[in-house]
Amino acid sequence: MTTVMTTADPEQLKTEALAAIDAADTLDALEAVRVETLGKSGSISAVMKTLGKMDPDERKVMGPKLNALKTEITEAITQKKTALEDAALEAELAAKALDLSLPGPDVRTGTVHPTSQVFAELTEIFANMGFAVAEGPDIEDDFHNFTALNFPPDHPARDHHDTFFFSADDQGERKLLRTHTSPVQIRTMLSEKPPLRIIAPGRTYRCDSDQTHTPMFHQLEGLVIDKGVHMGHLKGCLMDFVKAFFEVDDVEVRFRPHHFPFTEPSAEMDIGYSRDGQVLKIGTGDSWLEILGCGMVHPNVLKACNLDPNDWQGFAFGLGVDRLAMLKYGIPDLRAFFDNDQRWLKHYGFSPLHQPSTATGLS
Ligand code: DAH
Repeated sequence: MTTVMTTADPEQLKTEALAAIDAADTLDALEAVRVETLGKSGSISAVMKTLGKMDPDERKVMGPKLNALKTEITEAITQKKTALEDAALEAELAAKALDLSLPGPDVRTGTVHPTSQVFAELTEIFANMGFAVAEGPDIEDDFHNFTALNFPPDHPARDHHDTFFFSADDQGERKLLRTHTSPVQIRTMLSEKPPLRIIAPGRTYRCDSDQTHTPMFHQLEGLVIDKGVHMGHLKGCLMDFVKAFFEVDDVEVRFRPHHFPFTEPSAEMDIGYSRDGQVLKIGTGDSWLEILGCGMVHPNVLKACNLDPNDWQGFAFGLGVDRLAMLKYGIPDLRAFFDNDQRWLKHYGFSPLHQPSTATGLS
């Protein structure tokens, strides 16, 4: 309860106000005291208003006194307010026991996408074989994507790739979304001196969509240029890769003749596998699974990059990264890779804490 203040004497007002503040034992009661003293029609505000009617001599004496009183009461209220709030918190903490054995709140962690996981695995494997990582743009031109890779003009392969073309620019040139990572071969040979040993991981694009094709997908290109390179090197390198990637010591492989404009001879590499119910067993078996395209770099490609085929030879390979992820981790539908469904990512994703150690790109 608060005391009603009736006097206009500052000392008396002060005593009464301080007594009322002291007596206020709740925040509500304290607020009532504040309104009754400092509020618009409070006792202190009322005497402040009388200042105007005082004669100058009296005002000189009363003015500072009343101001000091106002400050003192304001401070007293603030202090009491803090004390009451602290006491309320203490009481609340004392009433609620803290159970330190309760489990903490669930922390949601993300997962590493299977494609990113496989990129990391591939980079590590090839870095250990001395390959460096090279990059090129997603928006390419006809020269790097086709011409320098020995695709003849009007060759049907240009259509087979279901290319996404941009509209022609001012010079009549039509840029395109690269249909494979092979143009990075050209860019690297034009910008760096051999010997070369690079992999080029990246996004590629073709106008295609079904269970095993998406308009955007991922490839990894490999290129080795050196003196005296032959198909034995190609085979040895890719055998080592397959063993490391599928984590099997014994893998049957077969190099099936194929055609790519930029390699001669060209091959597709198949690995043996068998199926046990739903599970694919990679390594041996009576079935073959195609996993990549490869071959010896065509002399015309070397020439387009100002390299003399009599001095330099090389081999190249290209593989579908998403497809390898599907195979290694038993993921049935490629389209789900790009749906951004959190449940899918939680199921097929990898722990960020168990990544291959980051490859350093030795060269
Ligand atoms: N660029 C080819 C494709 O996308 C894949 C490929 C095949 C790359 C053979 C190569 C290679 O480097 O030697 O179908």
